[in-house]
Amino acid sequence: MTDVNVNGLSIGILGGTGDQGKGLARRFALAGHPVLIGSRSAERAQEAAGTIGAGASGAANADVAKEADLVIVAVPYEGHKALLESLRAELAGKIVVDCVNPLGFDKQGAYALPVEEGSAAQQAAAVLPDSRVVAAFHHVSAVVLLDPAVDKVDLDVLVLGDDREATDTVQALAAVIPGVRGVYGGRLRNAHQVEAFTANLISVNRRYKAHAGLRITDV
Ligand SMILES: NC(=O)c1ccc[n+]([C@@H]2O[C@H](COP(=O)([O-])OP(=O)(O)OC[C@H]3O[C@@H](n4cnc5c(N)ncnc54)[C@H](OP(=O)(O)O)[C@@H]3O)[C@@H](O)[C@H]2O)c1
Repeated sequence: MTDVNVNGLSIGILGGTGDQGKGLARRFALAGHPVLIGSRSAERAQEAAGTIGAGASGAANADVAKEADLVIVAVPYEGHKALLESLRAELAGKIVVDCVNPLGFDKQGAYALPVEEGSAAQQAAAVLPDSRVVAAFHHVSAVVLLDPAVDKVDLDVLVLGDDREATDTVQALAAVIPGVRGVYGGRLRNAHQVEAFTANLISVNRRYKAHAGLRITDV
């Protein structure tokens, strides 16, 4: 969907010890990207990198933020703002990809939390004025990414942002995962709906015992 060449781009993942970070790390490592797993503990990061193999390495979040060409934020919403505030210098000048879904859960299921800045991605952009923040990978299931029986991941990744070169790059990165297309989904100010829609997907998954994804037709 874009002509950008992302070959060899190194991918850092903050909070890469969780399921979402490990799932993305696994798919990017399989596609030949150098992958750096980040954690609040370098030891936990190295352990997680060991489970991924394919040359993935692990280090403290700050070292990963400094070293990687492109950095994905895969921490829970509760820790999102404080972590990014602490890494402003390391992340300056980089594409920062936010996949954080600010969700609450109660007995009715998942629901979208209000975010003062509008969305987690806009919060990242506010905290990181010198980075190019892109929102993407909100709807991919970590279970599917981690499943060795799944060769092709059946979904489109909506990619949002205010910098065309950055969204083109992230669209191309999404497409290195077999089966996936990266589809431009608008400016960052429209990230809230994309994050919130994850609550609907979780409802679908619970009702139908599925790992539902999204496909955009006619593009
Ligand atoms: N799971 C999914 O299927 C999925 C799909 C799409 C998007 N997401 C989004 O991706 C993010 C990560 O999801 P997950 O399921 O992988 O979450 P998780 O396992 O709960 O957390 C990921 C990692 O974040 C770090 N972390 C936890 N609390 C933190 C804090 N307060 N400050 C800094 N780091 C903290 C932990 O790593 P260390 O303890 O090693 O530092 C943890 O292993 C979430 O925002 C979620 O909305 C998840």
